[in-house]
Parts: sequence; C-alpha cells; structure tokens
Amino acid sequence: MSGLRALGLTLTLLFLSGAMTAGAAEIQLPPPQTEGGIGVFEALKKRSSTEGGDFSAAELSPAELSTILWAASGLNRGEKGWTVPMARGMAPYCKVYVAGSNGVWLYDWASHSLKEISPDNVKAKIGSQAFVRRASHLLILVADPEVLKVFPNPEVQAEFANVLAGAMTQNVYLAAASLKLGARYIHRMDLAATKEALALGEGERPICLMMVGK
Ligand SMILES: Cc1cc2nc3c(=O)[nH]c(=O)nc-3n(C[C@H](O)[C@H](O)[C@H](O)COP(=O)(O)O)c2cc1C
Repeated sequence: MSGLRALGLTLTLLFLSGAMTAGAAEIQLPPPQTEGGIGVFEALKKRSSTEGGDFSAAELSPAELSTILWAASGLNRGEKGWTVPMARGMAPYCKVYVAGSNGVWLYDWASHSLKEISPDNVKAKIGSQAFVRRASHLLILVADPEVLKVFPNPEVQAEFANVLAGAMTQNVYLAAASLKLGARYIHRMDLAATKEALALGEGERPICLMMVGK
C-alpha cells in the first residue's frame, strides 16, 4: 500500500470512528472544496429537490460532508466571515446538527469539526415522512437562543433565524448540485422526537432539515 493510500485510509477510519476527546467523540473534518466544480449559474440551473425515493443507500464521503457543511455556514473570510449573511455580521445563530448512521453530531464552524451528541442513528425518528431516513445525512437547522438573545423582540429573533435557514439551505442545494449529490428541504418533522434526539435545550427551535445523499 502506498504512503498516500495508507494516509487516506487512516483519515477515513479516524473520520468514521471519531477522534476521542474527553467524553464525547470529535471529528475533524477534512478541508472543504473551495475551488473547481461547476459555475454558480450552472448550479442555479441544476438546483432541485431530489425525490425522497431517489436517495440511495450510498454514504457521503468525509470530503463531501465537509463541503456541504462549509457551504451551510462555514468560514469563508478569516475568523469573521461566513458563506451565509448574518444580521450585524454576527456569528451563526442557527446551529447545524448532522444525523447520520454513525450518530448525531453538532457542526462547529469555528474549528470545522463535528462534536458528538449521541452515537444513535436517529434518522428514522425525526422525519415524519418515511423516505427521510433514506438520505445518507440529515442536516437539522436549529435556532440558537443564546446568540439570538441580543435581539429583544422574539418575532425578530424568529425572522432572522428563518431567513438564515433559507440562505443555509439554498447554499446546501447549490453545493449539492455542484457535487452531484441529492438534496431536499424538509419542513415536516417530529418536533418532540427531534428535540430529544438532538438533546436540545430550552428555546432551541428546530426550523427544518435538509436531506443530503446520493
Ligand atoms: C419551506 C419548504 C418546506 C418544504 N417542506 C417539505 C416537506 O416537509 N417534505 C417534502 O418532501 N418536501 C418539502 N419541501 C420541498 C418542496 O416540496 C420542493 O422544494 C418543491 O416541490 C419544489 O421542488 P424543487 O425544490 O425541485 O424546485 C419543502 C420546501 C420548502 C421550500
């Protein structure tokens, strides 16, 4: 086995098993793809929702998941610039949870890593439609009351979080089009099951989920 291949295998195994830190596992995602792919106009032409039944059992690669999460809310300009616009240029006030066959994870945009929430495969629990579980990964966008509390009006908080979720999901659609992945925005979910599966705290509101897969 060549050195490069061995390194790739080690990175993949690390990704699949997670690098253990105190208590919960943590996965350092590989760098996202930030060059190449199709142009933005071609991605706009190709953007569409994949039919639920058309998602196959194939899993996203670590590189694909990395690029999708970066598109959703990664840093694109130093330490205070993101792929999505935020009110006052604040840090993201929608959290991105990732549900896959290897558990539930929280995306940390600052370190471009995933922190383990639970080792359980909860995909079948959180979608109200049976096909939702078919996607390799579900991205669940959750309004973060800790960051949003700088806005005193709860209606403004909800509006800003919902607008951000729209920008994030559109970015995911476009990145998925470029990576030739399937994607579908889903509003219908079992809210109680989702809050439990993600171990959400008081005031943390799931907005929507994105199915992403092949
Ligand atoms: C706000 C919103 C809510 C949606 N909710 C669901 C849903 O709960 N279940 C579903 O299967 N698709 C859902 N969709 C996907 C739409 O059905 C899909 O975008 C629509 O059929 C248009 O198809 P297109 O995205 O390929 O243009 C939702 C889309 C949006 C924008």
